[in-house]
Amino acid sequence: MAGDGIVQLIDEKGKRLDGRSVDELRPIEIKIGVIENADGSAEIRMGKNIIIAAVYGPRELHPKHRALPNEALIQCFYRMSTFSVNDRKSPAPSRREKEISMVISSALTSVVLTEKFPRTTIDVYLQVLQADGGTRCASLTAASVALADAGVPMRGLISSVATGLVNDKVILDLYDIEDQKGSGDVPIGYSPILDEVSLIQLDGVFTVDQFVEALNLGVKGANEIYEIQKKALKQKYTSIRAEVAVEPKVEPKEEPKIEPKVESKVEPKEEPKEEPPKKEQSE
Ligand code: CDP
Repeated sequence: MAGDGIVQLIDEKGKRLDGRSVDELRPIEIKIGVIENADGSAEIRMGKNIIIAAVYGPRELHPKHRALPNEALIQCFYRMSTFSVNDRKSPAPSRREKEISMVISSALTSVVLTEKFPRTTIDVYLQVLQADGGTRCASLTAASVALADAGVPMRGLISSVATGLVNDKVILDLYDIEDQKGSGDVPIGYSPILDEVSLIQLDGVFTVDQFVEALNLGVKGANEIYEIQKKALKQKYTSIRAEVAVEPKVEPKEEPKIEPKVESKVEPKEEPKEEPPKKEQSE
């Protein structure tokens, strides 16, 4: 949520309160396959944010009348744990959580090949364990790799990050204090491989130039996140390959046994004896 923008959040050297430069992401770590029961899962740590994404499906949808005849329904359940923020968060789903679930679901629907699984649901659970600003973006990034881990076919991954306006400067990847005290934020979901924006929201007031700068900075950040997503997915599958790869057993080379020559007992074929030509009998 945008604040009044008066608090000094960037020093004269262009450094933010956490030491980052204006175009720098927080440290990001992504682990794939953290929930064994799920079809696909991921954990993302983006600065202090810790979020788990778990994917189940495609599977039968209940109640059945909600099923879409020609495609799968992607249902997202973004929830903040009661202990994820300083003030205890009420366990009841808030309007904010429902809105975030909806925008993430809509972004994912744009890349998943939903037409391959008519009348089913793909359920994406997003549980925020610790929040520090930008949780919808981190959740979308994690959901995207969790879907890939579940083997759900997609046109491309979505990489997501927020940009914002702080002390009249456009900055990348806002954390909580910048989100609260800054004067605007623009969460962006972007697919580098498709060059498509699948999520964009805007809070605060930007000039057109600032908005374009914020969009471009978001795309730059998303490209960096995309590399981390790909690396995490590759890492999981290389370790599986290493586990299942059976080293071919190298048998000690045996000297070829020289068998004694056995004389063939096959009798030489007798040439058919030619019958002497029958003498013609004279009458
Ligand atoms: O997390 P995101 O930036 O996508 O959404 P937000 O509604 O702009 O929330 C920004 C931040 O406010 C969250 O990441 C939390 O750190 C914090 N927050 C909170 O402290 N208590 C809540 N009930 C909701 C959000």
